[in-house]
Amino acid sequence: MKNNSNRREFLKNTGKVAGFGMFAAAFGTVVNSCEQDELPPRPKPGESYDLDLSLHPELSSPGTHKVLRLDKVNGGDPVIVKHNADGTFFVMDAICRHQTCNVELPDTSDGLMVCLCHQATFSFTDGKVVDNKGYSVPDMAVFRTEYDSSKKLLTIIND
Ligand code: FES
Repeated sequence: MKNNSNRREFLKNTGKVAGFGMFAAAFGTVVNSCEQDELPPRPKPGESYDLDLSLHPELSSPGTHKVLRLDKVNGGDPVIVKHNADGTFFVMDAICRHQTCNVELPDTSDGLMVCLCHQATFSFTDGKVVDNKGYSVPDMAVFRTEYDSSKKLLTIIND
């Protein structure tokens, strides 16, 4: 009789542990799903980079752009450097931060950038999301710039 009671107690406790294990496994999936939608950290403020435009003649004319990887800008991820039609420069992230995917650049300066993973679209003018395709997609990070035309030096600053 005592053996039966011990056995019953053992099975009852084992069931509790197994039940908790199944709950933990299911909960772990939910947490993982949430983590996949978390946004990566933004670039660190205060870092800057002096880009010598004399080394990039393809950016000398207004209406041109180039994708570059620069130390200390955007954590080393590529940025798009645009020489706008009005002669100013504009620099933004070249990576969609929904799930860190590359974007396809438009043929025209007023076109849309398209994320290659979920097809969210961004303005090529200011990096703002145009269509998030139902996902939590942030705008492209934009970097402050200062241009010294006498030295052809573009300073890119993480704000
Ligand atoms: S990774 Fe760009 S929209 Fe999902």
